[in-house]
Amino acid sequence: MSLDSTILVLGGTGTVGSRVVARLRDAGRDVRAVSRHTSPRFDWADPGTWEGVLAGVPVMFVLLPDQTAMPEAFLPAALRAGVRRVVLHSDRGLEVMGLDHLRKAEQDVRDSGAEWTIVRPDWFHQDFETFFRQPVVDGRLCVPVGDAAQGFIDADDIAAVEVAALTGDDLLGELVEVTGPRALSFGAAVAEIGAATGREITFDGTPGAYRETMRADGLPDEVIEALISGFGRLAARGDTKPTGVVEQILKRPGRDFTDYVADAAARDVWSRAR
Ligand SMILES: NC(=O)c1ccc[n+]([C@@H]2O[C@H](COP(=O)([O-])OP(=O)(O)OC[C@H]3O[C@@H](n4cnc5c(N)ncnc54)[C@H](OP(=O)(O)O)[C@@H]3O)[C@@H](O)[C@H]2O)c1
Repeated sequence: MSLDSTILVLGGTGTVGSRVVARLRDAGRDVRAVSRHTSPRFDWADPGTWEGVLAGVPVMFVLLPDQTAMPEAFLPAALRAGVRRVVLHSDRGLEVMGLDHLRKAEQDVRDSGAEWTIVRPDWFHQDFETFFRQPVVDGRLCVPVGDAAQGFIDADDIAAVEVAALTGDDLLGELVEVTGPRALSFGAAVAEIGAATGREITFDGTPGAYRETMRADGLPDEVIEALISGFGRLAARGDTKPTGVVEQILKRPGRDFTDYVADAAARDVWSRAR
């Protein structure tokens, strides 16, 4: 791909996508970052928005929002429009959590005829400032994975690996499973946040506590039970071992959770009034 080719970033305004965009722009690349709130607008649910964003881009980063399947017609439309390389942001929990929509997206990308790389990240550090932020602020986080160590990874490192796949040839045809440099349990993660912020934050890794909090949030029972079985399989997988892939690809250490927590605390991420 030539250095002045435009790179399309789907989901370019979210946690990972915005970091992919920033890194590409810092490297002087031409980027088209799109979502439902950009101009041009891109909506997975509205095929009328696809053609305009796909025109003239040989390289495409695909990030599917949670629970969103890639429509059958999308990749054929992308290839017709001239896309030749696809980097798919997937999920390391795909098998255990039964994320069939991502399994299908991975298969479709492999079968598309385009050059491809699939990146499967573990939990993001930044989850503690998105969907886990409120429980952390309230002082009690419940995720039914017991004390199994997880491979928390920084979204900046995920983006750096994805940018390497978008701009170089070394990762073509590879499925890369990325974790942070040190696995730690949710209990240990929450304890680090507590120490950095001077707050008391407890962690409960039992299904009972999770069921109770999710019911209080109004989630339907069948959804809660499906999540509990997925998390149960994740717990049964046991402690995650860091894959070391970030370090191999980026030739530098991945960002440690402690460093993330210090930075997030300095940004007042967990202050109640934010
Ligand atoms: N969180 C984790 O620990 C974790 C771990 C591994 C893998 N993952 C995977 O990572 C992905 C989520 O990444 P993220 O946290 O970076 O996402 P995110 O912050 O929620 O961002 C989602 C992006 O998609 C856009 N979007 C949402 N709905 C859309 C629609 N209908 N059409 C077009 N664009 C839409 C959003 O912008 P607009 O709202 O403006 O449209 C935003 O740019 C999921 O596939 C998840 O399975 C997550």
